[in-house]
Amino acid sequence: MTNFAYPFMSTQKSFKLNKAIHPIFLGKSVFKKLSAFVKKGNYSSLHILVDENSMQHCLPILIANCAELKEANIIEIESGEENKSIEICVELWATLTDEKAERKALLLNLGGGVICDMGGFVASTFKRGIDFVNIPTTLLAQVDASVGCKLAINLEGYKNQIGLFASPKAVFIETTFLQTLSNREYLSGFAEMIKHALVADSNYWNKLKKVDVTQNNFAASFVSRSIEIKSGIVLADPYEKGLRKVLNFGHTIGHALESYFLKHNKNYLLHGEAVAIGIICEAYLSSIKLGFDKKQLKDLCDFITLHYKKYNISSAAYPAIIALMLQDKKNEKKEINFTLLRKTGKAIPNHNFTTAQIKEALDFYNNL
Ligand SMILES: NC(=O)c1ccc[n+]([C@@H]2O[C@H](COP(=O)([O-])OP(=O)(O)OC[C@H]3O[C@@H](n4cnc5c(N)ncnc54)[C@H](O)[C@@H]3O)[C@@H](O)[C@H]2O)c1
Ligand SMILES: [Zn+2]
Repeated sequence: MTNFAYPFMSTQKSFKLNKAIHPIFLGKSVFKKLSAFVKKGNYSSLHILVDENSMQHCLPILIANCAELKEANIIEIESGEENKSIEICVELWATLTDEKAERKALLLNLGGGVICDMGGFVASTFKRGIDFVNIPTTLLAQVDASVGCKLAINLEGYKNQIGLFASPKAVFIETTFLQTLSNREYLSGFAEMIKHALVADSNYWNKLKKVDVTQNNFAASFVSRSIEIKSGIVLADPYEKGLRKVLNFGHTIGHALESYFLKHNKNYLLHGEAVAIGIICEAYLSSIKLGFDKKQLKDLCDFITLHYKKYNISSAAYPAIIALMLQDKKNEKKEINFTLLRKTGKAIPNHNFTTAQIKEALDFYNNL
């Protein structure tokens, strides 16, 4: 039988982020911290939300290392962005009701960004809010989706239209979980790390540029730096009134592409893949508006096109993609809102462009 006990766990040194809106634990003792958290919470019931992949690859490890969870109710949903929907939320609220979850229940979200986003949303609205924690199992969720307090589901093909700001009680990160991720999913998460570096830390960007993506779990040692950046920004501006908008870099075009492909193509783009394209297009817009250095733009494009599959975005799709951007939550006064780079490590929010300029940015990507 597979041994899921402690030797399986990461050897990363323990890390607790104090400068964060909620506690974040990473490294060797993470399951001990989780056990202690569950014990101390004296919850009336425990519910673990998984999809079939986190159920197969991560749940046995979690249960083997956290005795407090042995009796927990397991709630399984089907994986996939298309399931981040109100219909699945209704099923989850009903399941929690069947499982007699009270206000003092705890929901543990074990999975990627879909599980963390939707589980957090369901927990925060069930009986006016029960506690939840995130145990992210994808790179994207570890460095981004599980940290901070934005929770949302999709509506009628629009990304994250329904949601709220609410904070997990804590986040527990075990990078060993990443070993079963596909390369494609791994790179999807890496795109958010590239974004963190570009908007906040040029030294970090220089380090990321040198990673060897053929190495197993190549980004694991950088997870803590990305979390520091993201959670530092969230702590300074939890409700996205100003500074937090820098984290939207790559996401105005990225979200529209993700929604477009989700609607029109079964082989849709993963979130991070869409963000990687968004980063290129928005770096291009940065070069025309803020004089973002052409050499840095080229470096960035070379790096992304080397590691990410190149897609052709048909010009016939541009109007639909721009229409999706007009629905973006970040917009103000019906203008599409962009965060740009002045240079690597320095992002400036709140820029607008004409439709022609946005098309030019998509052309720029297509022509690489
Ligand atoms: N709230 C936020 O601040 C925020 C930030 C970034 C992204 N997001 C959201 O996160 C979502 C994307 O997250 P994601 O990329 O983690 O997607 P995901 O949750 O769909 O996970 C990707 C795939 O990996 C599988 N998986 C999960 N853990 C695994 C493991 N350890 N081994 C093997 N397979 C595993 C999943 O079952 C799924 O098939 C999007 O909905 C996006 O909008 C939210
Ligand atoms: Zn993102």
